[in-house]
Amino acid sequence: MIHAKNIHKFYDQLEVLKGVNLHIKKGEIVSIVGASGAGKTTLLQILGTLDKPERNPESSLTINGENVLKLQDLETDNSKQEKIFKIITLTLLAYCILLAVFILFFRHTIENDIIGQVTIAVILLPLISAIAYYTSYFKKKSKKDKILSNFRNLNLGFIFQFHQLLPEFTALENVCIPAFMANKPKAETEKEAKRLLQYLGLSHRINHKPNELSGGEQQRVAVARALINKPDVIFADEPSGNLDTQSAENLHQLFFQLRDEFGQTFVIVTHNEELANMADRKLIMVDGIISN
Ligand SMILES: Nc1ncnc2c1ncn2[C@@H]1O[C@H](COP(=O)(O)OP(=O)(O)O)[C@@H](O)[C@H]1O
Ligand SMILES: [Mg+2]
Repeated sequence: MIHAKNIHKFYDQLEVLKGVNLHIKKGEIVSIVGASGAGKTTLLQILGTLDKPERNPESSLTINGENVLKLQDLETDNSKQEKIFKIITLTLLAYCILLAVFILFFRHTIENDIIGQVTIAVILLPLISAIAYYTSYFKKKSKKDKILSNFRNLNLGFIFQFHQLLPEFTALENVCIPAFMANKPKAETEKEAKRLLQYLGLSHRINHKPNELSGGEQQRVAVARALINKPDVIFADEPSGNLDTQSAENLHQLFFQLRDEFGQTFVIVTHNEELANMADRKLIMVDGIISN
């Protein structure tokens, strides 16, 4: 399900990941533990395609059969090209304005001058075709950019220590958002969201906003949101770090229930020893390296 090979990450001079190798099977629950600052969050962000590792010919990252680094390269290429195209487009725009000013001031001369008219037509023709070309390029480009975010939205779910629910939306709406972003139909999405919230014991809370819910309830809403698109992999970063003992225990049980029921793969960074030891496999991160 997840194959990471020789993943490196620098922040300026600081080498945070020093060649991480990882192999996680479908339906496996893996915990990652380690001291604060060991690089756990950085690794999770990279595995979750939210951050990019260093470019290195020996590095690879495959998730669900998809070469993630290639998708990220596609995005980077696009942003470089985008800059060049922006400069060209702006130059063309300035040229257009100059031409318009020229026509405005010399229109009387041009009206009676066949050579002037032909000159303007010759200048305008490539201009119009250039604009048409750029418009179609940007349309194509935005499609390419969406490949990575679509992949992430459909295959990966995220649960963070601070649930990051949107305060102005209800529990139900918060859960539905990733599905709406994936253009899923409203009625079907709401039905699924309600089913998930019910499964998580929140059916009486669907119309409440986050500030009307307890910490444990908010975290369960965040779990439902992570599950709405039925992702194959769920990344959790200190999911119970902010919860009381009972809520934490319930949340941990839930991960295992979900795995048993839906076969999802979990990668959980945690300081909670009980959760870490419950996992199928506990990985220890020491100073940017995973030691099993
Ligand atoms: N965006 C960033 N810019 C610079 N340094 C960072 C950044 N994010 C993390 N770090 C540094 O990288 C190291 C690992 O951080 P992190 O992955 O958050 O560790 P952990 O989650 O294991 O506590 C720390 O020394 C941290 O200060
Ligand atoms: Mg962290």
